[in-house]
Amino acid sequence: SASLKEALEGKFYIGTALNQFQISGRDTASLAVVKKHFNAIVAENCMKSRIIQPREGEFNFLPADRFVAWGEEHGMFINGHTLIWHSQAPNWFFTDRSGNPVSAEVLIRRMKNHIFSVVGRYKGRVHSWDVVNEAILDDGSYRKNKFYEIIGEEYIALAFEFARQADPEAELYYNDYSMANPAKRAAVAALVTKLQRRGIKIDGIGMQGHVGLKYPSLDEFEKSIIAFAELGVKVMITELDITVLPQPRGTGGADISSNFKYRQELDPYAAGLPDSIARASTERYLSFFNLFLKHQDKISRVTLWGVNDGYSWRNNWPVRGRTDYPLLFDRNNRPKAAVDSLIAK
Ligand code: G3I
Repeated sequence: SASLKEALEGKFYIGTALNQFQISGRDTASLAVVKKHFNAIVAENCMKSRIIQPREGEFNFLPADRFVAWGEEHGMFINGHTLIWHSQAPNWFFTDRSGNPVSAEVLIRRMKNHIFSVVGRYKGRVHSWDVVNEAILDDGSYRKNKFYEIIGEEYIALAFEFARQADPEAELYYNDYSMANPAKRAAVAALVTKLQRRGIKIDGIGMQGHVGLKYPSLDEFEKSIIAFAELGVKVMITELDITVLPQPRGTGGADISSNFKYRQELDPYAAGLPDSIARASTERYLSFFNLFLKHQDKISRVTLWGVNDGYSWRNNWPVRGRTDYPLLFDRNNRPKAAVDSLIAK
């Protein structure tokens, strides 16, 4: 076959996140890659609450409108990301005019307005939504975010209910990272089971897939695919990228371009990727894809978190200004060896 989407046809959707530069239409080179190789899209940032509703009742729909229109024009499966997430949620959501926390009643009303406005606007056009993102911590407990603090765990069920009411036809997902972690796997499965027992519509579980060359183990990842599929929902890999860089702790937010002391240690491949690491990345991609193909009856979509290395958030986390190589296309939008192998299969 000639492209990723043809190679994976009949198996699962192959998707990518689109960033602002792409959504504005300016980056025709990477958009050509999207058209050729992918059949599903998600917006990397423009549907997040801080961006789409920066002030109460004031919506910034233009980028999301463009994103959806582009997806329709090119026959893409369109996923909305994300309705309820602690990060990138604007402060006004949780506070009154004097800056005090709002009551559960007010927060629930704001959640409902937000979900009805966003999902309602794209009803029948956006095929699925990441309704709740990252509500469970790695130890399996609920994340103590502001939704949880003010409303309690019920905010999750409410979000799914509001989304269903706003667009009964859209598929509704729970999405999270570190899903290969056994404690998290168990907690997410328990959460989904609880919702199902109450008759609350939930159609799928998104496993983000921000992984490294060694971690997590494929075995644990596979156990999660199986455990989630056993709940009777779709399983998706929603934000796949494979960092090749060390992940230092306690350095969050630092900008290494101004910190020469750590530059070599934290940005070891700025001058180019050694062949051995490039090969390790290819191998790792192929072993993940082999796993996905093995479970193609359970997996409905595999989405990369970006088109090419130059755009990846990985270059900026946990320190800014690094040179990572986490995606399937290089900085010049050339397909990497993993793409060639997948297409040749
Ligand atoms: O666009 C502004 C720019 O104008 C400004 O000069 C610059 C200064 O910091 O910030 C730019 O916005 C940044 C935006 O990415 C676009 O690059 C934000 O600061 C930055 O916080 C934002 O990061 C995004 C992050 O989520 C937080 O929302 C990443 O792009 C995005 O890849 C990342 O995606 C998340 C998923 O939504 C959920 N799962 C984890 C994943 C990775 O963190």
